[in-house]
Amino acid sequence: MINWEELKHIHVIRKLQQIIGQWFYAEVFFLDERGNVRNYDPYDRQREFKNPICGNLLPKDPGREMLLNFFKETSERFSQDKENNWIINGPLGFEKVFASKVMLDGEYLGAVIAYCHVDASTNPEKLQAAAQVIEQKGMDRELFEQAAQKMKVLSPSEVKYFYEMVSLVSQEITAFHTEISKREARIHALSNQLENRYSYNQMIGKSKPMQELYSMLDKVSSSEATVLVQGENGTGKELIARSVHFNSPRKTSSFVTVNCASFNENLLDSELFGHMKGSFTGAIKDKKGLFEAAHNGTLFLDEVGDMTLTMQVKLLRVLQQGTLTPVGGTEERKVDVRVIAATNRDLKAMIEEGTFREDLYYRINVINIQVPALRDRKEDITVLLDHFMLKSCKEKEVPMKQITSRAMEKIFDYQWPGNIRELENEVERLVVLSGTETKIGPEILSHRIRDAVATTSSGAGGKTMSVKFAGKLKDALEELEKIMIKEGLRRTKWNKSKLAKELGISRAGLIMKVDKYGLDKRKLQRDAELAAAAAAAEKAGGSHGGHGSGEAA
Ligand SMILES: Nc1ncnc2c1ncn2[C@@H]1O[C@H](COP(=O)(O)OP(=O)(O)OP(=O)(O)O)[C@@H](O)[C@H]1O
Ligand SMILES: [Mg+2]
Repeated sequence: MINWEELKHIHVIRKLQQIIGQWFYAEVFFLDERGNVRNYDPYDRQREFKNPICGNLLPKDPGREMLLNFFKETSERFSQDKENNWIINGPLGFEKVFASKVMLDGEYLGAVIAYCHVDASTNPEKLQAAAQVIEQKGMDRELFEQAAQKMKVLSPSEVKYFYEMVSLVSQEITAFHTEISKREARIHALSNQLENRYSYNQMIGKSKPMQELYSMLDKVSSSEATVLVQGENGTGKELIARSVHFNSPRKTSSFVTVNCASFNENLLDSELFGHMKGSFTGAIKDKKGLFEAAHNGTLFLDEVGDMTLTMQVKLLRVLQQGTLTPVGGTEERKVDVRVIAATNRDLKAMIEEGTFREDLYYRINVINIQVPALRDRKEDITVLLDHFMLKSCKEKEVPMKQITSRAMEKIFDYQWPGNIRELENEVERLVVLSGTETKIGPEILSHRIRDAVATTSSGAGGKTMSVKFAGKLKDALEELEKIMIKEGLRRTKWNKSKLAKELGISRAGLIMKVDKYGLDKRKLQRDAELAAAAAAAEKAGGSHGGHGSGEAA
């Protein structure tokens, strides 16, 4: 669509219109693709016309109607014609009209019409006939004749210039529109890259980690590479796997999911690779495995970290050779499958422990997607809440509910170990518990969320350590330092050199701090023993007391 309003600001076009008016006494009109005049306002009584006939006709109802109808009909016929320029007679017969199409990629977008001019071919009889028409339509014949006298009779060379000028206007409009469309396409492409996307397929999130994830997915989807999706519980690993498949060239073939944790070894074997009739008790007929079901499509190996070592060997063989042998079978079968694997386990640590094969790890980890935990992108909580609230209220057919700011605070403070799934469940629970109430306050939040205190999360091991955000900064920092050292000592099994390196301090500095906070191994062990003994004593005493009070009652 041409932005017709914009054209009045284009200098070249204005200049051309001006010249055409001053030199040739013609009025330039822009018609859109439906034949409506876009640069003429009937209510604008101030407008002056360079063309005397326009000046005479347009302010009067019958005159205006005649001209506008003529433009509309002309545009209709013009759009069907293969010529790009037209010279035709005007509605009064004595005047001439030049029209030039505005075309883009072979499509008619409108026209520029110059009304009107007279040349040597105009004779007094034609003018008389026109004046009669004017009279019949109830307009003043004399005024019309005076206006007609003011028209300039163009010489053949002037006519030539005139036509060139008018067609220049339509060319300028086309050029301007092309430029605008190009710019819009460019802006659209750029803003797609830059603009914070609130969602991607079914994923919601506008935080930086999610933006990075989206652009990663943009790149990954078109490839054929094996993908390993890693992230904590409920972060959306399966959603991501689906998105990769449904944006890939394999989207028209199957997306097959297999949860590696939910089968024992023998079953998983036959589930993945299929089996032959009679290969084990219960195998009453040949059965195709999920690998074959996913042929030409994608196989999603969920919880891949839960596969036994034997299964890992078999999987590796299929991935490397592209062939498999069903349980009890002898013949190899070819399969073309893209594999996406997901796990919440630390596969690197499993490799060190010897429970996950390094060669399989490198085979599936061609592209690695780390899904950010919700606590590391808390700015997404609001959009996720809105999304789940809308979904839940719609499902339950209740009016939309709002979470009060006091409840929001608690929700933000909470660390969301169960991530999006936990948030989704909490919203559903709140919608049910709030009944007919449309405002949701902190009272009905789950206990663990209501009791949340603001905490910092440590990068190491994803564990959360509690540091209260109150009081003196120095105390808080010392508290944090103490927790980090204590946790680090336990994790490194009291390897102080290693921990000092990790924390970026000298070994001597660490030993000093260990002394300062009373964190030496023997003291901690003794403290732990004492605490355990005290707890045991209390338990014994407590149950006795309980029993006693029961008796008394
Ligand atoms: N970014 C997101 N936006 C909206 N909903 C999400 C998002 N991520 C996850 N979900 C929803 O949260 C729930 C859990 O997602 P999903 O099953 O993909 O997570 P997962 O990482 O595979 O979980 P698990 O560790 O339990 O296997 C689903 O209902 C999913 O639709
Ligand atoms: Mg999952």
